[in-house]
Parts: sequence; structure tokens; C-alpha cells
Amino acid sequence: MRPAESAMQLLRRFVADAGHELNTPIAIIEASLEALTEILRENNVKEELTEVIAKASARMGELASDLIFLAQVENPISHYVMGPVKTKKLLEDVTKDFQSLAKTRDIHFKLGAVADEEVIGNLEFLRRMVTNLGSNALRYTDEGGTVIIWSEVDGRDLAIKVSDTGIGIPDDSINHIFDRFYRVDKARARAAGGAGLGLSIVKAVVDAHRGDISVSSEVGRGSTFKVRIPLA
Ligand SMILES: Nc1ncnc2c1ncn2[C@@H]1O[C@H](COP(=O)(O)OP(=O)(O)O)[C@@H](O)[C@H]1O
Ligand SMILES: [Mg+2]
Repeated sequence: MRPAESAMQLLRRFVADAGHELNTPIAIIEASLEALTEILRENNVKEELTEVIAKASARMGELASDLIFLAQVENPISHYVMGPVKTKKLLEDVTKDFQSLAKTRDIHFKLGAVADEEVIGNLEFLRRMVTNLGSNALRYTDEGGTVIIWSEVDGRDLAIKVSDTGIGIPDDSINHIFDRFYRVDKARARAAGGAGLGLSIVKAVVDAHRGDISVSSEVGRGSTFKVRIPLA
């Protein structure tokens, strides 16, 4: 093993361990919070701080599961299952999952034309990839906007695209958005609940499938993320 490789493995191990170690205190916070809420209810005390704690704890939980997931996808020696994945069904399912949430924000979340093609991949990873792109599109688009997912054959690849009419990404940030914990607007991202790992996970999934990802974006007009994954 080359030194650089073992350093990478150590880092990956650290990321996974940190994720797992977070889970215990989070579980304790949640169990205690449940008991506390019950006590408050019995005593007819209204206390909004319990909501604040619940939300913070849920975010920590997401951070922990993102860290664990990232370490898993980035691990070259983990034996995740690769097989034929029906991408049409995948895109249909993910779109359906987002539609009710989108409606509450008055955003049209729709599926465009999709190619009926298979890629060789890991269904769970690919689902997470599309879900992360979709949730960003939703998160960074204001009310009344549109998000559209579609796919097409592009040479020997399947191109999956997620487009939004949202806030867009400044040119000088485009090269950084796939970095861990990078966020263009920390305040907005934090208020919306992002930990800044979503696109790192997307990039790791794309790499695990020997694909590539590109972004075109215009501030104030919207963004398009295009992923290419080799066809089966
Ligand atoms: N569709 C999008 N429109 C505008 N900005 C985006 C979009 N997707 C990602 N970004 C920017 O890239 C940053 C990193 O994205 P991500 O890794 O998913 O983290 P986050 O948890 O903040 O969503 C976001 O904080 C945001 O600034
Ligand atoms: Mg995100």
C-alpha cells in the first residue's frame, strides 16, 4: 500500500467512526427528549425548546448518517453490490417521493422524458445520488419555481439531469461545491438544514460508477446538474 493510500484509508475509517460514535449520544438525546416531553405534557407545560432540541438532534442524525454513507461509498474495498439498475423506474420513484414536499413549497417537481435504459451500478447509491440532487434543487429554489429530472442516452453513457429555476451558483463557487462541508451561503444552507455533504456524496457515487458530473448554472436563473454513468 502506498503511503497516500493508507492515509486515505485512515481518513475514511475516521469519518466512518465519527459517524458511528455520534449515533450513541444522539439516541440518548432523543430518548431523553421523549421522556421530557411526556413529563411536560403531564404537567401541562408548553415549552418550545423541546422542538428546537428535536430539530438539532435530527440534523445531527443526518450528519452522522451522511458521514457513514460517504465513508461506505468511498471505500474501494467495501463489497457493495453492483448489478443492472433500471434507471427509468429509479427516476420515477425519486420524483414521486419529492412531489408532496414540493407542493408544500409551491414548486413544480416534474419528470421529463426518461430513457428506458439500464446501467450497472448500486441501486441504493444511485438512489441517494438522485435524491441528493433533487433535494438541493428543491432547497435552493424559491416558491413558484420548477425542478425537472430527465435522462437521455449520451454516447455510451446515460445522462441524468436535474434542473432547477433556483438561486443559481456563482462562477467562483462552482469548483468548490463538491468539497466536503462547502456551502455557498452558509446562513441559507444552515437554515434549510444542509450539512454540506450532499454533493460530496453525489461525487463519490459518480466516481464509484466511473461516471462524471458537470454543472451549468446562472445566478438568479437556476442550475443544471448532469451526471453521466456508463450504460450496461
Ligand atoms: N441546485 C442548487 N442550486 C443552488 N446552489 C446549490 C445547488 N446545489 C448545491 N448548491 C450549493 O452547493 C452547496 C453544497 O451542496 P451540498 O453538498 O448538497 O450541501 P448542502 O447540505 O448545503 O445542501 C450548497 O450549500 C449550495 O450553496
Ligand atoms: Mg444538499
